[in-house]
Amino acid sequence: MTWLITGGAGYIGAHVVRAMTQAGERTVVYDDLSTGIAERLPADVPLVVGSILDADLLARTLTGHDVTGVVHLAAKKQVGESVERPLLYYRHNVEGLRTLLQAVTDAGVGAFVFSSSAAVYGTPDVELVTEETPCAPINPYGETKLAGEWLVRATGRATGLATACLRYFNVAGAAAPELADIGVFNLVPMVFERLTRRQAPQIFGDDYPTPDGTCIRDYIHVVDLAEAHVAAARALTSPGRHLTLNVGRGEGVSVREMIDRITAVTGHDLPPAVTARRPGDPPRVVASADRITTELGWKARHDIHDMITSAWEGWLRLHPEAARG
Ligand code: WQD
Repeated sequence: MTWLITGGAGYIGAHVVRAMTQAGERTVVYDDLSTGIAERLPADVPLVVGSILDADLLARTLTGHDVTGVVHLAAKKQVGESVERPLLYYRHNVEGLRTLLQAVTDAGVGAFVFSSSAAVYGTPDVELVTEETPCAPINPYGETKLAGEWLVRATGRATGLATACLRYFNVAGAAAPELADIGVFNLVPMVFERLTRRQAPQIFGDDYPTPDGTCIRDYIHVVDLAEAHVAAARALTSPGRHLTLNVGRGEGVSVREMIDRITAVTGHDLPPAVTARRPGDPPRVVASADRITTELGWKARHDIHDMITSAWEGWLRLHPEAARG
């Protein structure tokens, strides 16, 4: 098969390309390079630079490269920005997906893997979030991912396209320093940035109903996440098959614990400072990863230490001044 990876030059996308090619799959990348970086891609992987809203270029790419399956990651992904600019998010994440699905069904592509998010659950009031936990997103970003899932599933039902929606939990780490996330939008890089400036890392609220009062998340190594894409893609062999799967480790880690682990790895021992809560943060979001293990035989192999050490190596590549001493 030949797989088109949209958003393949992004942080997660480039890891998916790497995992797919290592597993022996042919890949072609489609990316507008708005946040993606072409240098993340192996030299022998073709890159088509274009927008997910460009129906003609999508159609030409699918037929020109004999694409038989698509892994769709190209999307806007900043929660705060989605609150400010909902129209932009619906345009890229829903209209862009609709445009792609039209091209995919016109071209007779058989399999489609969609990058979704734990953000579809909103503020789940359960110990472990299963795929049956009701979806109730609390921001436009999460809404576009849920609408995207509906669109993917309805298209599969109507056309026989085999589909998988992967709900990512909190992604961290890197397969190699040059593949690391360069954005500073999530806990791990935000703490790295504070430490680099010799400032105390911030805890956004320690009065949540959790054992240490800080929010609990389910962190997953990007290499494990990428391997989940390979397993999902390969499972989409029968027409009309549909999978909705959490991709997490099932282990809750608090913000305070994460910061302690980060300071241990980096050697920066600035104690964290507690600041006000960040609006919209759920106290606890932890996956049940049972279904993906049952359906795909996938299990995470990397732990928090692997995530932090590999992310830190990537950070030091761009910020050598962050090295302790
Ligand atoms: C984790 C925890 C913060 C920085 C978001 C999106 C989600 C997905 C992943 C998608 C929270 C706390 C953070 C800091 C802190 N997005 N924190 N100090 O909010 O769980 O998930 O990213 O593509 O949809 O919502 O991740 O890494 O921002 O925060 O205390 O300096 O760390 O309040 O509790 P979040 P995050």
